Amino acid sequence: MRRPLVRALSLAAVAAVIPLASPAPAAADSVVIGGYPVEISESPWTVALASRDRFGGTRAGQFCGGAVIGRSTVLTAAHCLGEAALGAPLGRVRDLKVIAGRGDLLGEEGREIPVRAVRVNPAYDSYTNAGDLAVLTLTEPLPASSVIRMAGSGDAAYRPGTDAVVYGWGDTTGGGDFAHALRATRVRVLSDAVCEEAYPGSAEGKYLADSMLCAGELGGGRDACQGDSGGPLVAQGRLIGLVSWGSGCGRAESPGVYTRVSGVVREPGAGH
Ligand code: ARG
Repeated sequence: MRRPLVRALSLAAVAAVIPLASPAPAAADSVVIGGYPVEISESPWTVALASRDRFGGTRAGQFCGGAVIGRSTVLTAAHCLGEAALGAPLGRVRDLKVIAGRGDLLGEEGREIPVRAVRVNPAYDSYTNAGDLAVLTLTEPLPASSVIRMAGSGDAAYRPGTDAVVYGWGDTTGGGDFAHALRATRVRVLSDAVCEEAYPGSAEGKYLADSMLCAGELGGGRDACQGDSGGPLVAQGRLIGLVSWGSGCGRAESPGVYTRVSGVVREPGAGH
């Protein structure tokens, strides 16, 4: 483990504050920025990561999203499980749960399933945000109908211009307005050249095509935001990305950056 880990994480925390001080985001109605409400039954593979101990009980302790890729396996972002995000080392978070089948965090629908094991990608680099992936194993299986298939490398769903949808309970304005019901927004997969130009390397991160993809609208407006991290980006019915980072939310020329599922999961397409 590289020493600068903690310093990089605090830089990420600073970056997360920047949207509040910068010009208002392009859209005020949004997941997800610029979004619309969705029923959990339409995207049963979207789950919430929750800890009431760390985040309080008003929104069931939700702090990140996740995607169900096997009956007992959930993918999320590595940075969701870091000390900067949790406010405590992961080992001290005793009530980490996955909430499945619940669209409205104020309701009782669905199930809260304790997490049995957490594997954080050892190659995750908090400086660049490369490899932002963790795998959670649940204590009880979900129905097979909740599992989404991952897109393998070379899948057409990764092609620039592809329409994709991102799901989450995150900030809907960039000003700290967290949704209590699941939302989604439509974004377009952008080319590596566009993503590299948007993020050549800064305190926020650096676009690295091997383990990332970026998506948005060139004029901004539709995007994921804080609290959506780890949640699914889906194209053509397959999981292509996990919400990872970005500069602000929904800004023109600053698309959302996602963990490229085919770049970091060893066995793409094997849903178990
Ligand atoms: N890092 C954020 C989180 O922890 C996600 C940010 C995504 N930002 C974006 N503009 N797409 O929730």
